[in-house]
Amino acid sequence: MPVSPNPRFQSLEAYEITPQEPWQIYEDYSVTKLDWNEGDFVPDFVKRTARRLLSNDEYYAWYPDCAAIELTKALAGSLGVSVMNVLTFPGSDVALESLCRVYLGVGERVLIPVPTYENLFTFAASAGGELVFVSLKPPFEFSAASFIADYRDDRPKLIYLVSPNNPCGYVIARSDVRDICRAFPDALVILDQAYVDFSPDASCVDLIRDCDNLAITRTFSKAFSLAGMRLGYIVADHGILKQVAKIRNGKNLGMLAQKLGVELLKRQTDVQQWIRQVVETRDWLSDQLTALGVMHSKSHANFILFVMPDPKYALAEFKRHGVYVRDKSKAVPNGLRVTITTRQAAEQFLAVLKQLVSR
Ligand SMILES: Cc1ncc(COP(=O)(O)O)c(C=O)c1O
Repeated sequence: MPVSPNPRFQSLEAYEITPQEPWQIYEDYSVTKLDWNEGDFVPDFVKRTARRLLSNDEYYAWYPDCAAIELTKALAGSLGVSVMNVLTFPGSDVALESLCRVYLGVGERVLIPVPTYENLFTFAASAGGELVFVSLKPPFEFSAASFIADYRDDRPKLIYLVSPNNPCGYVIARSDVRDICRAFPDALVILDQAYVDFSPDASCVDLIRDCDNLAITRTFSKAFSLAGMRLGYIVADHGILKQVAKIRNGKNLGMLAQKLGVELLKRQTDVQQWIRQVVETRDWLSDQLTALGVMHSKSHANFILFVMPDPKYALAEFKRHGVYVRDKSKAVPNGLRVTITTRQAAEQFLAVLKQLVSR
């Protein structure tokens, strides 16, 4: 008889990742990777810095700076907060998981408007949380007023908001986030802003001064194109970070990632220009989808959620043309999601889509 795991894990569902095929084939085939919302703009100065740093033995032999001092200072400076309000992690996924582990007790309720980023489900369930899904219907707009009215008496311990939302693309107004924090003072409100650089007006960093139950997670994986380096952080009241720091393992945040993060924060001009292009391409593609009669959500991020009559066939056709998009049909009936990178990639995607539509 194999040793049985903690009963909580027996029924736990793993997060469904996108197929990893591009890593197996990219050296031999042209791959247009539009399935995981990664940024694709790695400026030359980033590559030069990486090459220089990796010629130092310390980058291999020493443990990294576990306190990530330079990076934390650079982030605090760029966000206009104190270093006491920033805690770094090897990716925002680890930040989310750590928040769940520290704040959730067994059986405590987690309110989650869906569709949303599903990795959180696994983190919350593995911490013992009881997941309560709040279903949004197309066109997927989030209303704080009705959320508060419907769930105020539910006594959640944690609320998970994603703005801009993945995969729906909507943003939650700052005043709505503040109202939710105030309406649920006994809950930790996690506001996942992985995509906020594509919609800077949606930033809620200033709210941490008033809301000591708000934890904002952010990442370098999207607008800063460092998904492979694993770099994310929490911005929150120090009281929250003090608790999460107890289980944070600073050894896991590699020194190369830390230094590249600092470098990118110092020299943002090229990245900001690239972000503007992504936004332009997204809006152009959205117009093209409208012209083709393809239903899709308005997006404030670097992706578009759209609907096809036969999503499995569409996925296979895209793949046959070297274009990888994400299957979202379990969360949204017939839903697929395409990442926005370059205009050229969007045109390649559109060419296949036109064939599918005219079929
Ligand atoms: C909403 C959201 N949060 C977090 C993440 C994970 O980001 P990271 O690469 O920092 O772990 C993703 C990745 O797709 C995401 O969509």
